[in-house]
Amino acid sequence: MVDLSVSLAGVTLRNPIVAAAGTCGYVDELAEVLPPNRLGALVTKSITREPREGHPPWRLIGVPQGMLNAVGLANMGLDRFLAEKLPAADGIDTVVIGSIAGNSVDDYCQVAAAMDAEDRLPIVELNVSCPNTGDGLVFGEDAARLGALLGEVRAVLGRTKMFVKLSPNVGDVTAMAAAAVDAGADGLTLINTVAGMAIDVERRTPRLGAGADGGGLSGPAIHPVAVRMVHDVYRAIAKPAGVPLIGLGGVMSWQDAAELVLAGATAVGMGTALFVDPRAPIAVVSGLAKWVQRQGCGAITELVGRVNSA
Ligand SMILES: Cc1cc2nc3c(=O)[nH]c(=O)nc-3n(C[C@H](O)[C@H](O)[C@H](O)COP(=O)(O)O)c2cc1C
Repeated sequence: MVDLSVSLAGVTLRNPIVAAAGTCGYVDELAEVLPPNRLGALVTKSITREPREGHPPWRLIGVPQGMLNAVGLANMGLDRFLAEKLPAADGIDTVVIGSIAGNSVDDYCQVAAAMDAEDRLPIVELNVSCPNTGDGLVFGEDAARLGALLGEVRAVLGRTKMFVKLSPNVGDVTAMAAAAVDAGADGLTLINTVAGMAIDVERRTPRLGAGADGGGLSGPAIHPVAVRMVHDVYRAIAKPAGVPLIGLGGVMSWQDAAELVLAGATAVGMGTALFVDPRAPIAVVSGLAKWVQRQGCGAITELVGRVNSA
């Protein structure tokens, strides 16, 4: 059998498939339908220091080739997460990655320090698609601001690896990737949802509850955007720096996952696919194994970044 295991900054995953942040609950909510030991890793819902109610309905709507969401980072907050949800990580056989969100540098640092103090989360993933409540600017859309945030978070982390989840809603994603790596990121995750909006033409109002703020587009519609961004970030930043990528965006099949691997992803996330079929990762893992074999390789790692694009 081929070797599907991969290393994310020294953390070994049994296979490259990762259940994406915000699409598989806090820790073990999907475990009954999708046994965690079929996954390489799962990412928690993004956790904030204080509980967040999130946006009013509608929070999720289907659009052609995808989904728009405006969940608004609804979550129970750090204290309850640590007390009520994180202990479940001990009972499941996969790597659990802790996702962090916040509205200030201090927010991120407090959640990061608390997660670092646990021994259940070998990696944290910073969701930087949040506006700073101090000035309203989004951390992940400004390289200087991103670098400053990551420098502070890096300083509070001990052995935990720091991954940064990049937003596609920027002019030059490689500049953001460079800023993240310069500030000490151990890995990058890309892409988060693409900014979008849907309008009810009879009522003449936005269809999502976040109103004028719209929502985030995910699913097959964004897959080619993800492939391109992973490809570009791998070549310009990740490969030279030796930093692993978790690539995601619209992965529904093993072919979609294989594309991201060839573009440069060491691991591949699945989010929207879990809403269609929570067991979809199982078929993707087995399809990848057969593909690696057909390619004449003994390990999937031999295929990372190996697209022949001159
Ligand atoms: C309903 C929903 C909730 C999400 N919540 C989060 C979240 O809490 N934190 C985060 O970093 N990304 C979140 N995402 C983004 C996904 O993790 C992923 O980056 C994005 O959906 C693209 O992958 P996909 O096309 O496979 O869904 C969410 C996506 C969806 C659809």
